[in-house]
Parts: sequence; structure tokens; C-alpha cells
Amino acid sequence: IRSQVAIIGGGPSGLLLSQLLNRAGIDTVVLERATRDHVLSRIRAGILESGTVDLLAEAGVDDRLRAEGIPHDGFCLSDEDRMIHVDIHALTGRQVTVYGQTEVTRDLYQAQDAMGTRILHGVEDVRITDLDQPRSVVTFTHQGRAMRLEAEFVAGCDGFHGVSRRTIPEDRRREFERVYPFGWLGILARMAPLAPELVYANSPDGFALASMRNAALVRMYVQVPATDRPEDWSDERFWQAFARRIPAELAAGLTPAPSIEKSIAPLRSFVSEPLRWGNLFLVGDSAHIVPPTGAKGLNLAASDVFYLHQALIAALRGGDRAGIDGYSDCALARIWKAMRFSWQMTTMLHRFDGEDGFAAQMRRATLDHLARSETARRDLAENYVGLPL
Ligand code: FAD
Ligand code: DHB
Repeated sequence: IRSQVAIIGGGPSGLLLSQLLNRAGIDTVVLERATRDHVLSRIRAGILESGTVDLLAEAGVDDRLRAEGIPHDGFCLSDEDRMIHVDIHALTGRQVTVYGQTEVTRDLYQAQDAMGTRILHGVEDVRITDLDQPRSVVTFTHQGRAMRLEAEFVAGCDGFHGVSRRTIPEDRRREFERVYPFGWLGILARMAPLAPELVYANSPDGFALASMRNAALVRMYVQVPATDRPEDWSDERFWQAFARRIPAELAAGLTPAPSIEKSIAPLRSFVSEPLRWGNLFLVGDSAHIVPPTGAKGLNLAASDVFYLHQALIAALRGGDRAGIDGYSDCALARIWKAMRFSWQMTTMLHRFDGEDGFAAQMRRATLDHLARSETARRDLAENYVGLPL
């Protein structure tokens, strides 16, 4: 097979890149290991920055997002029973949108189908070679057959466990990592949201988050030890832990509903530099992971796609390689700021096992400062709504 751009991975990064390139008249092939149903069943992110919404609009996949996405003007932090409102709209003039990653992915698949782009599912044994040649080579197995794809550029959109990052020689990669000793247990349940906006809660028992997908579906999280498994958490145990961690006035209005999904995500900060190796470009989770506390994972994947699609279009249309030469540095500058913000939010809201009283006082002082200082809230809001592209 031949194509201008080979895209490894059909998650949000790979699909969005493919969509934007095809709309610019550039031909792509997406290679995805899992089935489409599997990709669509992974419940992950729920909050889109305004820049991500703009990029989805540019990609022509914002009809359902505009109709069903819920714009939020702000969010709340809580410290035990105290609620701290961060008015994003008043502080930055922008909004975030509640719209699940599953829905973004579904819209992208539908748009790709309508354009007739090539997406191969069930692809195995992907290997990427000849990255220093005008035509790079991707070999793989599909439906039991050995296949070969030649492309001018390869986009590594295959997530943290993919092959793209590992294609870059180990001695040419610099990795930065922080693994947190806790995870997020998340449940999906059919009930009305507890509050109109998201609540990120700090408590002596640890972190909790009250989020939502729509007016009748909520996504709630509690911090749990990294070693716990979902089976350790009955619905009853989950709701008890959750209610203890959110302000009493919210807990009073809580009528627990049975979970319809339950999973645990580990928390990690990770960056691998550089994002470019010859004609290979890393995008999204293949190059970086943030802990979910700042709602940045999916949005960061979208900003990588923003930079890379422009760079690839310039290179493939007019031979202008400045964008692809600058991609790694340009994307990393934004990535590190989202890393810092996600780490700050995580540290401000989670209990670390074995911590001393000082750490808890630092969290409380940070939250008290946020409650009293509009300057501090503006900084938080500016980062949460998304730094400029
Ligand atoms: P992925 O979504 O990981 O997509 C990569 C794709 O590549 C997958 O479909 C995979 O099947 C495919 N693939 C992998 N290896 C290969 C291979 N060798 N060959 C071919 N295809 C391959 N972010 C938030 O903002 N909020 C959250 O609450 C949140 N929760 C999360 C929970 C979990 C368990 C995880 C893992 C992530 C979560 N994230 C969250 C992060 C967010 O979901 C990711 O940042 C986002 O999915 C990144 O998109 P991506 O396309 O780069 O990678
Ligand atoms: C959701 C996840 C997040 O990581 C976050 O910061 C906000 C919302 C969610 O799944 O709804």
C-alpha cells in the first residue's frame, strides 16, 4: 500500500489527524490494533478545552458536539466543606465543554467513513523502518496477511504502550517520569449531576471528583491506592467513600445509583523527548502522559495534532519543512506547561500515603489562597481552559 502519511493508532489523536489531513487533500492510512467497538468502549476524558472544540470544528466534526456538549463557565474546588468557585468565563472570557472522549471518537469515525478514508482494524506486529528515507516503511499483519505500507511521513498516535516511541533508539530518547502511588477509581452512573459544574474535592480521606456526561449520566471518581482493583470496590463502598470526601451540602443531595461501568486508571506524569525521529512524529499519549486531575490528556493530544497537521500540510503541499523541523520543540513547550499544571492540580488535591502534616497544610494553604485571591484563580483558570496554541 502507498500513502502520503501512515498513522499508527486509531484513538482520538490518530483519527483527528487523519480527518484534518484528508480534508486538506492529503491521503492517509490509519493502522489500529483494536476493533472499533473496543476503541469506542474505553471511557476516558470528559472535558474539552475551547481550542480543542475549535480544532474539532475545523475538522468538520462539531455538529453533535454543538448540540449535545455542555458548555461550562467554571468549576469548583472544595476543601472539606468549603466550596471554591473558579469562574473560568469571567476570568478568561472562555469556556470548557463537557463531551466524552467516546463521543469525540465516534464522531471522528463517522466523518472518516463518510470521506471513505482507509482505517485498518485488528492490525498486529507493526514495525516502522526507513525513517531516514524519502519513503518510510511500515510492515504489519492484517487478517493473517503480511502487509507493507510506504509513506512519506509516519505519525505515531499509538498511545503509551504503542511501538512508535520505542522505534526511536533508546540512547536518542530522554524520558522524564513521575509515578504517583494512587489511581482513580471511576464509575459511570445514570443520575442527574450533583452540581451544575464539576467539583474537584480535597478531603482528609483523599481526592474525589464529581463530573458528568449529560443531564442524566454522571462520571464520579475517588482516589484509591495504586494496588486496588475495581473488584475491591462495591458500589456501596464507592458511594460511601465519595460522600465522605465531598462537601456535606452536596453529599446531602446524593442518591446513589448503581454503576454501569467501573475502572481504575493509574496516575503518571511522563514525557519522552524528542517528538521527532527522521520522518516519524509522536503525537498524544505515545509521547506524554499526564495525571488526569487537570483534564489535559485528550486536550494535549489535540494540540499536538494542531501543530503537526499544519506542519505536514505545509511540507506535503509546498515543500516547506520549517513546521516539521520545529514540531518537536513547539509541541513540547506547550506539553511541559500542561505537565506542570497537571502535577500542580494533582499535588494540591490528593493525599499521599505516609505524608506528614506539613503536606496537608500546604494543600489547605494553597486552596485557601485560591479562595481569597482572584489572581490565583485567574492563573488556574487560564491553565484549565487551555493555554494558547
Ligand atoms: P490512545 O487513546 O491511547 O489511542 C492510541 C490507539 O493506538 C489505541 O486505539 C490503541 O489501541 C492503538 N495502538 C496501540 N498500540 C498499537 C500498535 N502497536 N499498533 C496499532 N495501534 C496501536 N484524560 C483526561 O483528560 N481525563 C481522564 O479522565 C482520562 N482518563 C483516562 C483513563 C485511562 C485508563 C487512560 C489510559 C487515559 C485517560 N485519559 C484521560 C487520557 C486520555 O484518554 C488520553 O490522553 C487520550 O486517549 C490520548 O489519545 P491518543 O489517541 O493519543 O492515545
Ligand atoms: C473528567 C476527567 C478528568 O480527568 C477531569 O479532570 C474532569 C472530568 C471526566 O471523566 O469527566
